[in-house]
Amino acid sequence: MVRIASATPETIAEAAAVIKNGGLLGLPTETVYGLAANALDGRAVARIFEAKGRPSFNPLIIHVAKPEDAMAFGVFNDAAKEMMAAFWPGPLTMILPRTADCPVSDLASAGLPTLAIRCPAHPVARAVIEAAGVPVAAPSANTSGRLSPTTPQHVAESLGDAVDMILAAGAASVGLESTVLDLTGEAPVILRPGAVTPEDVARVLGITPAIDDGQHEAPKSPGQLLRHYAPRTPVRLNATTLEDGEAYLAFGPSLMGRNLPDMHKRNLSEQGDLAEAAANLFGYMHALDGAGCKGIAVAPIPDTGLGIAINDRLVRAARG
Ligand code: TXA
Ligand code: MG
Repeated sequence: MVRIASATPETIAEAAAVIKNGGLLGLPTETVYGLAANALDGRAVARIFEAKGRPSFNPLIIHVAKPEDAMAFGVFNDAAKEMMAAFWPGPLTMILPRTADCPVSDLASAGLPTLAIRCPAHPVARAVIEAAGVPVAAPSANTSGRLSPTTPQHVAESLGDAVDMILAAGAASVGLESTVLDLTGEAPVILRPGAVTPEDVARVLGITPAIDDGQHEAPKSPGQLLRHYAPRTPVRLNATTLEDGEAYLAFGPSLMGRNLPDMHKRNLSEQGDLAEAAANLFGYMHALDGAGCKGIAVAPIPDTGLGIAINDRLVRAARG
């Protein structure tokens, strides 16, 4: 069995050693758990792709301990500097041109001239990266195409012995992967909605970014090509009634599903709070997916603010 260790100064030092030695680490971040390896070490990065069953054309996000550390790897234009000041450390990934002498493994960025970079807010993630002394490549720590992990147990269930160690720091507080913002073009484009919303970007840059969900000929984010966030159980969205045999994922005060057994229902947020719903989403999908129902009916979620990111993941789950 893979070792799951609670984060302490000692286990953080051990985790940093796993990274330095070319190993794979289950790393807590505020968004989801990552599968982390030394981004400068092509062989370590190759192990990430192998463990996840991830196609090698799909590039990884590079994580740094301090915002300014990112300047060695990506070329920051004015917009990128403003976004960095406003949202790092935090759940924002920026797509930027690679610096001329960028030492990050080409495999990590799938041979692209651009790089996805993020400075996570989680103190454990930052401490591990700082102690490792190298940038860390980390996709979500799940088998490619499946639900992202928000707890150390999800990581163990999905990847098991393919990981050298899992550092545990409770459930991820945001619960959805970071916003991916492409700043390499004329105007900012959101390639993956997340906790940094289009309104947040507009407030800082003065331009409302387009959202490109990749459902067209030439997706900008290779990850958009793939089936994503798919539970095994079929998902039905915007459900206002329940069919026989379905589990129910509610949002807000709801009497629907009151006759279902507890294991067949969850409420993302009784109060209708989108941040609470985002934090609960993947954990509840994991739980209902394991309940053996013929389908999962999901209540309508408002498509504003953080609801845009929640609906993005739900639409992909339903498409799977
Ligand atoms: O919250 C997160 O971002 C988590 C935690 C662990 O930090 N990581 C994560 O990584 O979600 P991953 O690999 O599951 O998603 C990265 C996304 C993929 O859709 C990938 O295609 C896209 O970012 N991406 C990476 N590099 C890119 C690039 N150079 N250009 C466009 N998209 C890129
Ligand atoms: Mg992922």
